[in-house]
Amino acid sequence: MIVILDFGSQYSELIARRIRETHVYSEVLSYRTTAAQLQQLQPKGIILSGGPNSVYDPGAPVCDPEIWNLGIPVLGVCYGMQLMVQQLGGKVEAAEKGEYGRAALHILDPTDLLTNLPDNSIMWMSHGDSVTELPAGFHPLAHTDNTPCAAIADPTRHLYGVQFHPEVAHSEAGAFLIRNFVYHICGCEPTWTTEAFIEEAIREVRARVGDKKVLLALSGGVDSSTLAFLLHRAIGDQLTCMFIDQGFMRKEEPQRLLRLFQEQFHIPVNYVDGQERFLKQLQGITDPEEKRKRIGAEFIRVFEEESQRLGPFEYLAQGTLYPDVIESANTNVDPVTGERIAVKIKSHHNVGGLPKNLRFKLVEPLRKLFKDEVRQLGQSLGLPEEIVRRHPFPGPGLAIRIIGEVTKERLEILRDADMIVRQEINRSGYYPKLWQAFAVLLPDVRSVGVMGDKRTYTYPVVLRLVTSEDGMTADWARVPYDLLATISNRIVNEVPGVNRVVYDITSKPPGTIEWE
Ligand code: XMP
Repeated sequence: MIVILDFGSQYSELIARRIRETHVYSEVLSYRTTAAQLQQLQPKGIILSGGPNSVYDPGAPVCDPEIWNLGIPVLGVCYGMQLMVQQLGGKVEAAEKGEYGRAALHILDPTDLLTNLPDNSIMWMSHGDSVTELPAGFHPLAHTDNTPCAAIADPTRHLYGVQFHPEVAHSEAGAFLIRNFVYHICGCEPTWTTEAFIEEAIREVRARVGDKKVLLALSGGVDSSTLAFLLHRAIGDQLTCMFIDQGFMRKEEPQRLLRLFQEQFHIPVNYVDGQERFLKQLQGITDPEEKRKRIGAEFIRVFEEESQRLGPFEYLAQGTLYPDVIESANTNVDPVTGERIAVKIKSHHNVGGLPKNLRFKLVEPLRKLFKDEVRQLGQSLGLPEEIVRRHPFPGPGLAIRIIGEVTKERLEILRDADMIVRQEINRSGYYPKLWQAFAVLLPDVRSVGVMGDKRTYTYPVVLRLVTSEDGMTADWARVPYDLLATISNRIVNEVPGVNRVVYDITSKPPGTIEWE
């Protein structure tokens, strides 16, 4: 394992992902982790991340200086390198000229960390401080036009540093450098594979739950579906999958999901038809937050009733992923038992929490994985592409894509329009290029149109097609006009109640992806 000590860089997780891409397991820990704790974990290498501070800022985060004496190879990245230099007696100062963006790396010593790296390859820089004096034992491995110490090493103590960010995609030879560190310097073996993970996860789940029953709320998304497959393989009939149909899914999705699980994969699913009761909760409600709250509260009520009816269950399976674990490090731990406790139902991040009397123990076999690793896992377990590559879909579903009160008729209109969007996006080959693609209905707006010889006066549909890396920022998709034309034409012709289609050309920020 490689441990990454996080000094607050936006790239710490990315470093972990890059290392895992070399099939070596890695974890992100706080910079406060002590040398003694690290010794217990026995990592083969340590990476110190970048961070927003200057090492000479008062109160800037520092690591335990004993780390340098552990004999474990260390690679400092940006702030991490500067900290290494400062703590070991070198000097870091504000650079005359900061360096942001691309820079060519001129190699002085093509061994060790820089083995097989092409000279003058482009690396991504982002720093205002520079190393101006190296500690005893170090020598520069490479420089850029602006930065004399762009890569440094003290090979006898196995200490290395780079001023640039090898983890970002713009760094052309970054992956080579990471492989050199992981394989040659740390001596790691490429043992982190999906197959190895499946074996270990199955062993762990069996050991944890014994002969007890486990409940899983299936949403149809990639996380809960992968979880269902994994658990079913591990514990078979001890797993109960529950699918609560709120009535806000896309057209034919609940039926497809059930068919897929039950008929194709022989994983039984308890279908709970909540359509009427969820709709009743939304009667007369137009405020987006109120909608979410009501859907969340009703979800808990149904979940509670059904789990009592089907149970009792000792364990609840949650699709917690590694980024959630990093984010909530230690905050969701029961102070008495030390167990992680359920504070969220994963498929529904609008749900506040489970009631106290429903305190399950948790099974979270995906907690070590990043999203792309879950996709790989799902694929290895035999989940079809349509689920593995599925776009995100919000917990409250179509209810937050009808801008106003939600009614049965409006849901029908939106479902039909949305189906056309999906069909055409699939047909055009744009599905994998987009983060999300959907329709939004504006039932409180009507506009005049003409069809045949008749005047129409009905609702507009908004087309929302966005590209994004992680949903935090997004841009409207530049798809061909012809594709927009086909979608618009089909919706207006095939969906009664809609006579106009508009395209949302707002990025996030300032907009959000969803309309509510
Ligand atoms: P926004 O609209 O905030 O959405 O730009 C960002 C991403 O989150 C999804 N989303 C949700 N997912 N429950 C969910 O599980 C929700 O209440 C919810 N609201 C938004 C949205 O689809 C997008 O991918």
